[in-house]
Amino acid sequence: MSLLDKINKKKVPQHVAIIMDGNGRWAKSKGLDRAKGHREGAVSVRKVVEAAIEAKVKYLTLYAFSTENWLRPTEEIDTLMELMVYFIAKETDDLIKNGVRLQCIGDIQRLPEKTRNALYNCVEQTSLGTNLTLVLALSYSSRWELTNAAKTIAAEVKNGVLDENSITEETISKYLTTKDMPEPDLLIRTGGDTRISNFLLWQAAYSELYFTDIFWPDFDAESLYTAILDFQKRERRFGKISEQLEKEKQ
Ligand code: FPP
Repeated sequence: MSLLDKINKKKVPQHVAIIMDGNGRWAKSKGLDRAKGHREGAVSVRKVVEAAIEAKVKYLTLYAFSTENWLRPTEEIDTLMELMVYFIAKETDDLIKNGVRLQCIGDIQRLPEKTRNALYNCVEQTSLGTNLTLVLALSYSSRWELTNAAKTIAAEVKNGVLDENSITEETISKYLTTKDMPEPDLLIRTGGDTRISNFLLWQAAYSELYFTDIFWPDFDAESLYTAILDFQKRERRFGKISEQLEKEKQ
């Protein structure tokens, strides 16, 4: 029996976000080069997308390349950018078939033209998908995103589009790259580290965090379902007390 059958279909996290970590260590542990780790990581992406559709997750956000990843050796950056192009070319038809809509968040202008164009084409071709929205965070960091939002808000206050006294938390959310998405319910990090690494800092304010030692290339459907089952055991109080939540349920 798959763990999928144990998942309570009424309490599936609507949005799962994943920090995919451990490609390099996975490769090293097997005496392989880091590029092989990333290629196997792309295989895991496919498996987890399929698993998320099965579980009826509606948004899956994957941290595929952070702003800080630009500091890696050029050769590794090139490998990752090429891999993105290859993955998109290979997967676009299946994404369409499976009703997956691709979206990207991050400083996309900074990506090589080939990668950027492949992404934009795939976003366009998959725009009618309704089963799952797959969000790739590329050249993304929360501090980059929040800095940009602050600049835009300041400019709009200055030119009279926005009244500073009417700025609320919702206003801030609307100026983020995730403006049309629900906040992540469950945030997973693979690879054994227990930090957020500049990922969705605003959006994950109330996300349930799940850390696993599994390296990303070994993370599969059952690993995702294990995380969802763990999520389902938790009580999300959003600052309230249990008794209030009980009353609200009745
Ligand atoms: C972290 O492992 C992973 C990345 C920086 C890149 C993630 C990329 C992929 C999973 C492959 C392609 C993605 C898509 C969407 C097709 P790491 O290199 O930091 O591993 P380490 O911490 O063990 O060195």
